[in-house]
Amino acid sequence: MPQTLLALNWKMNKTPTEAAAWAKRLQEELPPSSAGLAVMVPHTALSLVASEMYGSSAYLGAQDLSQHESGAYTGETSAAMLKDIGVKYVIVGHSERREYHLETDQIVNAKAKKALEHGLVPIVCVGEKLEVRERGEHVEFTVKSLRASLEGIKISQSNELVIAYEPVWAIGTGKTATSADAEEMAQALRGVLEQLYPEHSSEMVIQYGGSVKPDNIEEICSQPNVNGALVGGASLVLESVFALLEALG
Ligand code: PGA
Repeated sequence: MPQTLLALNWKMNKTPTEAAAWAKRLQEELPPSSAGLAVMVPHTALSLVASEMYGSSAYLGAQDLSQHESGAYTGETSAAMLKDIGVKYVIVGHSERREYHLETDQIVNAKAKKALEHGLVPIVCVGEKLEVRERGEHVEFTVKSLRASLEGIKISQSNELVIAYEPVWAIGTGKTATSADAEEMAQALRGVLEQLYPEHSSEMVIQYGGSVKPDNIEEICSQPNVNGALVGGASLVLESVFALLEALG
């Protein structure tokens, strides 16, 4: 079993000043935990958070990266830039990027490859919309999306790649998937990993994300194929993060 990984997705919240104050407190007060912790902060706050968290056991993460190496891509951030700041994890294919920035599985795939080329760990997000679940096609849809997102991707160690199952209907809505829903999908996604990475699949982290809170994280993460959570709303206030970690033990 891999070590549980709690990843905090701040989304477009916190100015650099607010982020630095949060990170300073985290560095001072982070309780010991069996789970790993990654903080996915906006690009503008990465440098400050990196220096405030220096020496802490928490990892620095980003929320997106460019699929391109460098050059004329106004407004984009390259993998090399993130690596240079000290970023370890980067979210790719979050449903908000897929929805508002029209990111396809092919773009997600290119971004994940670029992250890996530079030694970053992509957290590849997949998940279905409500209408797909209502049609009963959620497993088929999400498995297909994961396969396309991982097309041609090779890894040499289990910790080079993280998968997050995030049902779109559960993100920011207060509607959490049941632990049985999360496990059903995590098991199906584990099956994809078994085919693609037979030597590593059992040790690879599959997270669940979507309205995870201190009072439901334990049950969700105790499912056999769920090895952590990607948390949005409940990640902004430090007390809530400490409660999430405490619930994970
Ligand atoms: P939420 O967001 O915890 O606010 O539902 C999760 C995510 O989008 O990663």
